[in-house]
Amino acid sequence: MRLFVTGGAGFIGSNFILYWMKKYPEDKIINFDKLTYAGNLENLKEVEKNQNYTFVQGDICNQELVNAQTNGADIIVHFAAESHVDRSILDASPFIQTNIVGTHVLLEAALKNKIPRFHHVSTDEVFGALSLNSDKKFTDDTPYDPHSPYSASKASSDHLVRAYGDTYGLPFTLSNCSNNYGPYQFPEKLIPLAITNIIEGKKVPVYGDGLYVRDWLYVVDHCEAIDAIIHKGTLGKTYLVGGQDRTIPNIEVIKNIITRMDADESVIEYVKDRPGHDRRYAIDWTTIHNELGWSPSHSFEEGILATINWFKDNTTWWKNIKSGAYQDYYKTQYK
Ligand code: NAD
Ligand code: DAU
Repeated sequence: MRLFVTGGAGFIGSNFILYWMKKYPEDKIINFDKLTYAGNLENLKEVEKNQNYTFVQGDICNQELVNAQTNGADIIVHFAAESHVDRSILDASPFIQTNIVGTHVLLEAALKNKIPRFHHVSTDEVFGALSLNSDKKFTDDTPYDPHSPYSASKASSDHLVRAYGDTYGLPFTLSNCSNNYGPYQFPEKLIPLAITNIIEGKKVPVYGDGLYVRDWLYVVDHCEAIDAIIHKGTLGKTYLVGGQDRTIPNIEVIKNIITRMDADESVIEYVKDRPGHDRRYAIDWTTIHNELGWSPSHSFEEGILATINWFKDNTTWWKNIKSGAYQDYYKTQYK
């Protein structure tokens, strides 16, 4: 199989490429990535010399280049996006451009080149927020209700993908997944930010009351879900993907990390809340389980331990990131 992967130098995309090349060594992968601040070829050192792996630096908004590069692919697996909610609040423009316009460009290329399959990677944030005092989860029938420029742009991209399916017969699958964590996650997101700040002896910023709840998904479980969808998923369908544990408030996530790292709770610093902050996410992944036999195999306890160890063992990777333009972002965001 020839895979055209967008955003393969980012967190989930690089985990996916490493996972895929180990499991399916005969397959050929083109990793098409613009290398924004979030793209990092260090993540792919293990495969860079593999003859079945090709890296192309490019912008998914460039129609001519995307048309040329997707020609001959058996599948497009679309990860590329601006992915951080806080950055979308500071400046929505790149989110509109990459997440909406870029997805449209890829859809046009998929039609033009008659690509047999298009898998769109999306987020549970398109569904908005659940309240704390209910057991409700996002299901296949939950209506869209995005609250941040990031989630609104991802919602738009989802609608475009489905519209191309309905209108032009584009053969697609789509997945909406919950908060990923694991190796190679950019240290602007809560878990890697907390781990690396603790190692550096810095405070860990907790937004608002810290009682926001996310549905944590170990990134390898996510890769396995996409694998199952690519190989067995029904064209035209959407699959919801989530983790094993469902009710961990942010403050408990932080305290869990603090305990495991032998740190002190005095590192916790409550800071100004995120505007439009979604209270709770939770995923009902019954459909993908019943239909494709997938379920998340990592508990939060296992996943967080593996993640902490990875960041402890790979300090150069994240110190290089944190020493650059990251510092300007950090000052602006946490001033
Ligand atoms: P990331 O920010 O770590 O990586 C994004 C990658 O896309 C980077 O390599 C970047 O260089 C590339 N990119 C950005 N703009 C581009 C453009 N115009 N052209 C080509 N490449 C471009 O993101 P991530 O956390 O790995 O997320 C991957 C996908 O999964 C995104 O679509 C995101 O919305 C979705 N998602 C992420 C999570 C999560 O918890 N991280 C959860 C649900 C869904
Ligand atoms: O739900 C899936 C989404 O998960 C993905 O679509 C996004 O790409 C991904 O970034 C993530 O979004 P979140 O906004 O949920 O992730 P983040 O790590 O930024 O925040 C997780 C929670 O922690 C959220 O409630 C905000 C809070 N938080 C975050 C940061 C960065 C803090 O309390 N302090 C912080 O410094």
